[in-house]
Amino acid sequence: MASAWAEEIKEHNARYHDLAAYDYDDKWGISYGGLGRAQVLGKVRRALGEEATGLGRALEIGAGTGYFSLNLLLAGAIDSAVATDISQGMLDELSDTARRLDLAVETHRCDATELPFDDGEFDLVIGHAVLHHLPDLDAAFDQFRRVLRPGGRLVFCGEPSRHGDRLASVPKRAALAVAPVWRRLIGARRRIELAAGNDEARELWLEHVVDVHAFTPGELSTVAARAGFVDVRVHGEELVAGWFGWLNRTLESTAEKADIPMLWFQWAHRGYLTLKELDTALLEPRLPPAIFYNLLVSARSPATARSAGEAAYAVTASAD
Ligand SMILES: C[S@@+](CC[C@H](N)C(=O)[O-])C[C@H]1O[C@@H](n2cnc3c(N)ncnc32)[C@H](O)[C@@H]1O
Repeated sequence: MASAWAEEIKEHNARYHDLAAYDYDDKWGISYGGLGRAQVLGKVRRALGEEATGLGRALEIGAGTGYFSLNLLLAGAIDSAVATDISQGMLDELSDTARRLDLAVETHRCDATELPFDDGEFDLVIGHAVLHHLPDLDAAFDQFRRVLRPGGRLVFCGEPSRHGDRLASVPKRAALAVAPVWRRLIGARRRIELAAGNDEARELWLEHVVDVHAFTPGELSTVAARAGFVDVRVHGEELVAGWFGWLNRTLESTAEKADIPMLWFQWAHRGYLTLKELDTALLEPRLPPAIFYNLLVSARSPATARSAGEAAYAVTASAD
């Protein structure tokens, strides 16, 4: 039975993401054009170690507004998508965007540990930036394994790495130190404190309580292996791009948004994309996954159905 703490985390997640849904794509620069497709295909390719094609019928966990499912459908990498999330607000946004893009996507509001699907229904279970919100990871991975067909693939990207998170606190602190000078330079007013009780203040408070994990590569691979997955691999993603992104996002959070010039946002976005290319080409192939800001995990359901207890610990992830 789920603990009171786990239930509270799920409730906070549903409320926070319901509040965040309406401007979520704008806030995170989510694209359903060429850029979004290239980003998502790049992440899945990196996680799988091969091109992201012919991935069949996909189930997305914590699909949010549809960043992964919709871009994978647009790219033709999957045949069909079922999108699940604990937040109805996020799923409503996803359905609106799918309609606009003329894509068919089935949605289900459900918790990752209570998937309303038959055993072996899917070829792929996928997710982006969701595992760190799940209080009971073992129960969730048991469900992922159950709904995958034998030999089916599991791919989760964009999970915060514990060491990467610590390293990212350096640019965050630096940004807070230089924020007054930065605001003066761009002519922006200091952000007015939010009145307690309004929606924005509530959203900010919830933002601090919805993340329940940051992972080492070893922890992620162990939870997958414990559920009976094989061929478990963990990669790292984003180093200097992550530092740059956090520096800018922290600066921006201290100013009135309307005062920040569009040119600043364009510069920040272009700078991030350039550094991301540097990370991909030079750093990710050479440095250990643990120091990157994000982790990606991929695995396979065993070709013959076995119980989790019998499963071999075929872990090929890099050590912490
Ligand atoms: C950081 S957002 C990521 C959304 C989307 N995958 C993306 O990358 O844009 C995390 C998502 O996970 C969902 N979520 C949180 N806890 C969940 C749970 N217990 N079961 C299913 N979804 C959950 C949230 O509602 C939210 O939509």
